[in-house]
Amino acid sequence: MKNIVILISGGGSNMAAIVRASRRGDWLQRFGARVSAVVSNRADAGGLAFAREQGIATAVVDHKAYASREAFDAALAAEIDRHEPVLVALAGFMRILTPQFVERYAGRLLNIHPSLLPAFPGLHTHRRAIEAGCKVAGATVHQVTAELDHGPILEQAVVPVLEGDTEATLAARVLTQEHQIYPRAIERVLRA
Ligand code: GAR
Repeated sequence: MKNIVILISGGGSNMAAIVRASRRGDWLQRFGARVSAVVSNRADAGGLAFAREQGIATAVVDHKAYASREAFDAALAAEIDRHEPVLVALAGFMRILTPQFVERYAGRLLNIHPSLLPAFPGLHTHRRAIEAGCKVAGATVHQVTAELDHGPILEQAVVPVLEGDTEATLAARVLTQEHQIYPRAIERVLRA
């Protein structure tokens, strides 16, 4: 079985899109793959309820319970490794990971970032795109490497920045595209 573990911190709409795509696209039949667990660093992450409803194992590894980034990442890795995943997908996972963690999952670790990388790594991507006067914005699915929001690009989607856009309206437009490209990128990796 090719297990996929998804890490979330919040609403988990990208995670839900991946789960739905895995069912709709029959990943189990076609690739022997399934989303086997959803792990959050926050107990109040909205996406956990959806995962439970779908019969997917969930776990919370609360970063506040650990004295260092290294200790948190070690606990997170222990939880992930119970599923022996072929892929670990960061989906709105808002913690910076240590180089040791990234190394452990080298080649198996994916992220979605709400900008057209290499533009606007880091936070507040939509606000920065509007302030810069960008005419387009978007999202990127990439492999995770030690440098934050870098790494080989797997998929991108472009949306227009419209007159009068706010951070919220642009984020919503980008998010609908994220839900398309993340499942597509994972499917491509599974097919390879
Ligand atoms: C998404 O827009 C994702 O690209 C972004 O957080 C949101 C999570 O939404 N990720 C980052 O900013 C990573 N630095 P979701 O919880 O509904 O999937």
